[in-house]
Amino acid sequence: MDFQQLIIFLTAFIGLSTCNRVYVHPFNLLAYNKSQCEKIQSQNPSTEKSFFPTAIESESNADVEKLKFEINLEAGPLGTESYMISLINNLGFRAVAGWWKLYNTDSILIPYVDFFRTMVSFYLGASGHTSSSLQTFLGLEDPSGSTNCTSKIDGLKVISTLNEIDDSLFSKDSNIKTLRTVCMFVSPNIPLSEKFVYGLSQFADNFYVRSVDFKDSAKAVKLINEFLDSKLPADTKSGLTSIDVTANFMYISHVQYKGKVAKSFLIPKHQPFWTEPNKMVLVPTISVSGEFHIAEDNTKNQLIIKIPLSDNDFLLLVQPINGNTISNIESSMKWNTYLEWVNIVTKRHINLSLPKLKIQRSYNIQDLLTNMNVSEQLGKNADFSKISQSNIEVGKVINTVDFELEESDANPNGESNVPETKEKPAEVKLNKPFVVALFEGTTKALLLFGRVIHPTNII
Ligand SMILES: *[C@@H]1O[C@H](CO)[C@@H](O)[C@H](O)[C@H]1NC(C)=O
Ligand SMILES: *[C@@H]1O[C@H](CO)[C@@H](O)[C@H](O)[C@H]1NC(C)=O
Ligand SMILES: *[C@@H]1O[C@H](CO)[C@@H](O)[C@H](O)[C@H]1NC(C)=O
Ligand SMILES: *[C@@H]1O[C@H](CO)[C@@H](O)[C@H](O)[C@H]1NC(C)=O
Repeated sequence: MDFQQLIIFLTAFIGLSTCNRVYVHPFNLLAYNKSQCEKIQSQNPSTEKSFFPTAIESESNADVEKLKFEINLEAGPLGTESYMISLINNLGFRAVAGWWKLYNTDSILIPYVDFFRTMVSFYLGASGHTSSSLQTFLGLEDPSGSTNCTSKIDGLKVISTLNEIDDSLFSKDSNIKTLRTVCMFVSPNIPLSEKFVYGLSQFADNFYVRSVDFKDSAKAVKLINEFLDSKLPADTKSGLTSIDVTANFMYISHVQYKGKVAKSFLIPKHQPFWTEPNKMVLVPTISVSGEFHIAEDNTKNQLIIKIPLSDNDFLLLVQPINGNTISNIESSMKWNTYLEWVNIVTKRHINLSLPKLKIQRSYNIQDLLTNMNVSEQLGKNADFSKISQSNIEVGKVINTVDFELEESDANPNGESNVPETKEKPAEVKLNKPFVVALFEGTTKALLLFGRVIHPTNII
């Protein structure tokens, strides 16, 4: 079954099982409807309201700035969530090969949802050919093949659905925290479309827009780094080294996930971790004993462990065994391999040790698009007339991920989640590079995917 067929199968199945209404493809729920199309066609673009960002140097309301607009975003259309998640997982997977090629020896953390959001943000600002090609890139093509106004996606409806997916994440549990910050920088005197700024502000916990003079690049880099250091969570490195002086627009998003392994403790002494077959480092290591979903898959030579982080959210860690390698696991993956992993694990009593993780990664999405042979999406000839009436030249587009996995400070001799037995649990040690996937469990949205080569990789 190919990907499009699978979406149709899944969404049709969900539709049938919940009600007897006529099946409507989720695409149509996200596209402009007739009345919106009529409104758009009668609108005069020159009457659009503009937004002028404050200068980066200005101290005004420097602390908490979440733009407040009067409009309230409507609820996302019912029945679009599972469709959106399949699109996120699919786009992420199409990009993975590019990520592997660009960063082939390092730890990688690919922010699937954030990358999708970033591209939707640019879709919101795009017109004409750029709008069409971004829509295709996101996988949001009209299944009927028609090309009129009702086959264009309403970016705000996509944002509403993504926000609903977000709301189901990290269900009221203190064991996992998430924070998303978006910063946009534009040249002075470039008026931004208020509608565009409003749309993007819906995407983040913290959202900032500032003007900065790109022409004086050394000064701009310094000012932007200082600004990011003051707005991003402590000990995140902004690390911008250069900017494109011919650009006048820059987009930086930062997403932080911090999780705790329930009922775990830190082993007093650092433990060995083999970053390469004959290269060992001593690292802080977490120990937890209890019932876990695990699979020792000797046909594909991999050990899969599911680690719950909250009621719904969990990590899948996959370590090569029997001489297998990470790159072998990666290259044999399909877009839905994670779902197979979820399905083969079974409950077992184990005593697990795994490294404490602190990984920060930063990616220039422009490099990634170049690697995917689609650099024109955000390139010089792209049409972003819904970002601004002035000509927009997109410079760096950066997605930064900050991921931490910690112990929960359990008492080493305290109760575990299994009844007391005489039998000793099987010892499982994650002490070699492994593949990591962070899931939202109810929707199966993949938030992060990547590999850990060294447990403490900071940018
Ligand atoms: C069309 O979509 C808009 C925006 O989501 C909504 O307010 C309106 O009720 C819809 N109209 C129809 C006829 O469905
Ligand atoms: C757009 O095309 C579809 C399918 O061809 C058609 O059903 C619909 O009426 C068209 N809408 C408009 C606004 O022309
Ligand atoms: C599990 O392993 C840790 C460290 O390797 C050890 O301190 C602990 O006693 C073990 N727990 C059980 C129940 O075997
Ligand atoms: C991009 O183009 C190059 C050269 O034509 C080709 O080798 C490579 O496989 C392409 N990459 C993708 C992701 O399509």
